[in-house]
Amino acid sequence: MDIEISKARKEDFPYIQEKIKKYLLDSTDIHWRQFFVGRIKDKPVSFGRIIDRGEFFEIASLGVDYYYRKNRIGKKMLSFLLEEAQRIDKAKPIYAVTHVKDFAVSCGFVQVKDNYPEILDYKRKHCKLDESKISVMKWKGSLR
Ligand SMILES: CC(C)(COP(=O)(O)OP(=O)(O)OC[C@H]1O[C@@H](n2cnc3c(N)ncnc32)[C@H](O)[C@@H]1OP(=O)(O)O)[C@@H](O)C(=O)NCCC(=O)NCCS
Repeated sequence: MDIEISKARKEDFPYIQEKIKKYLLDSTDIHWRQFFVGRIKDKPVSFGRIIDRGEFFEIASLGVDYYYRKNRIGKKMLSFLLEEAQRIDKAKPIYAVTHVKDFAVSCGFVQVKDNYPEILDYKRKHCKLDESKISVMKWKGSLR
């Protein structure tokens, strides 16, 4: 599927907010300027954000509309966000907190069990989903 990914527009925000709520994703301190949106024929079908946490980047609140899943859109979206974060600062590590570990692994992340930023542990423990299913992932630095 031909998808075009670009910075979110202000008018995309209701779409992003609705999907974040529906898919139980991280809605903490969201601002439309943090987001990127994937579109098919100008229709938004996916979204995700880069949070600059100073010492590191976190990729968060990533989703693909239900009917467009399993078409590699999630992978394209995550790869795009990784490239974008690297373009901003190549030296900063990139983390994600997720319940779909295998999806993150497919894009070059590995699970980390210690020595990761404390705020990610807080996030893991206070997620809307079962804590035991949440993993902290760190990007290895290359796409698989
Ligand atoms: C998780 C999500 C973004 C995946 O999007 P998608 O477009 O369906 O994923 P893709 O088609 O790009 O799949 C890429 C790879 O991840 C794997 N994958 C996708 N969804 C998966 C899931 N739920 N569990 C495990 N693996 C998954 C695919 O099998 C594929 O693996 P491969 O490259 O080895 O073949 C999508 O299901 C979604 O929006 N879920 C709800 C929101 C959510 O959970 N967001 C958290 C993302 S960190």
